[in-house]
Amino acid sequence: MFDVNRVRRDFPILEREINGRQLIYFDNTATTHKPIQVIDAVSGFYRMHNANVHRGLHLLSQEASELYEEAHDTVASFISAQDREEIVFVKNATEAINAVAFSWGLRSLESGDEIVCTVMEHHSNLLPWQFLEEFKGIRLKFIDLRPDGTLNLDGLNEVITRKTRLVAVTHVSNVIGTINDVKAIGEIVHDRGGLILVDAAQSVPHMPVNVKDLDCDFMAFSAHKMLGPTGIGVLYGKKDVLNSLSPYQFGGGMIHEVSLHKSTYSVPPWRFEAGTPNVAGAVGFAAAIRYLDEIGMKNVREHEEKLTSYCLKEMLEMEGVSVYGPRDPERIVGVISFNVEGFNHHDVASILDENGIAVRSGHHCAQPLVKRLGVRGTVRASFYIYNTIDEIKRFLDVLRSITGSG
Ligand SMILES: Cc1ncc(COP(=O)(O)O)c(C=O)c1O
Repeated sequence: MFDVNRVRRDFPILEREINGRQLIYFDNTATTHKPIQVIDAVSGFYRMHNANVHRGLHLLSQEASELYEEAHDTVASFISAQDREEIVFVKNATEAINAVAFSWGLRSLESGDEIVCTVMEHHSNLLPWQFLEEFKGIRLKFIDLRPDGTLNLDGLNEVITRKTRLVAVTHVSNVIGTINDVKAIGEIVHDRGGLILVDAAQSVPHMPVNVKDLDCDFMAFSAHKMLGPTGIGVLYGKKDVLNSLSPYQFGGGMIHEVSLHKSTYSVPPWRFEAGTPNVAGAVGFAAAIRYLDEIGMKNVREHEEKLTSYCLKEMLEMEGVSVYGPRDPERIVGVISFNVEGFNHHDVASILDENGIAVRSGHHCAQPLVKRLGVRGTVRASFYIYNTIDEIKRFLDVLRSITGSG
C-alpha cells in the first residue's frame, strides 16, 4: 500500500518552513528532492568506499568499480534494457542528447538528410539538432500541436519520409504534461529506415517505462528528476546501435589501446564515458531507483494521477484561470501549466512563494511551445510522490485569493 505520509518522512527538506509556512514543493519537473536513503548512499560512498574506478587493484578501487558498474545494471533493469552495455552514464539528459548529436549525427548525417522534432521539445532536444542543421546542412522538420495540446499525428506520413534519419521526440511535455505515443511514432520512422530518440526526462521518473516495449533506439533522462543526485544521467542506446558509434569525448577510461597517432576504443558503455565518472552520483542514483522500485512505478503514477485530476478539476472551475494542455489526467503526468487573468506569471509565482509554495514560472526551456500556446509564459505546478491533496488544497486557496474568488 502506498502511504504518502510514510514517504514524506524520508524527505528531510519537506520539514522546512518558507516564510513561516511549511514548504509545499510543486517544482518537481525542474528537480526533485532526495530521500534520506539517497543522501546516505552518497555520503556512505565517500565515507567508506571512495576511490577512482576501473584503474586500481586495491580494495577500495575494486569496491568503487563494482558499485559504479552495478549502478548501470540497476538502471538497465529499471527500464528493461538488455544489460549494462546499453546504459551510458552522462551528466544529465542534455548531455545524453548532445552525445547522440555528436557521436552519431556529426559522423553519419549528410546534407539533405532530415531530422524530425516536435514543437513541444525542451530546448535540450532542439538545440543539438539546430546545430546539425547549421553545421551539416540537414533539414529540421516539426510535428505540430492540436488545439487540445496533443501532438498532431495526422500528417505523419508526410513529415516522416525516407529522408528522415532520426525522430527526436519528448515522451512527456515538461510544460503541459502531454504523454506522447512514441511507440507509434517509432514504428513509422523504423518503417522508413530511420531511428528514434526519446527524451524521457519527464517520463522515466513518473511512470513505468520499458525500452524494449517502446522499441526506441536512444533514450535520455536525468537522475535528479527522479530522487537521485544532480550531475548524473543516462543515455540508453540499443546494443547494436551503440556498438556502431564512435565516441564523442576522448580521454582516460574509454580506450582499448593507445599509441602516439592512433588509438582503439573500449566497448560500450565505457567507450562513451571518458574521464573520471560521477561515481558517488551513480551510487546515489542506484539508491533512488531502489527507492522508486520499492514503491512501484504503477503506484507513483496512480498517486500523481489522483493529485492531478483533483487539482485540474478545481482549477478548471475557477474564474480567471486558464489551464494549458490536455485535460484528461490519463493523458498527462502531474504537470499543470496555467495563467491567472490580469497577472503576470512571475507575479503569481511570487505570491505563491510568499505563501511557502514553490512553483516555476516562465517559458520552462520550451520557448517555441509557449509561443505556440500564444502566451509569454506560464505558471507551472508539478507533483511527485511526496505531495498531498492537503497541499493542493492550500495551493488552490492561494490561487482563489489571487483571482478574488477566495
Ligand atoms: C523534457 C525535458 N527534456 C530535457 C530536460 C533537460 O534535463 P537536464 O537539465 O537534467 O539535462 C528537461 C529538464 O527540465 C526536460 O524537462
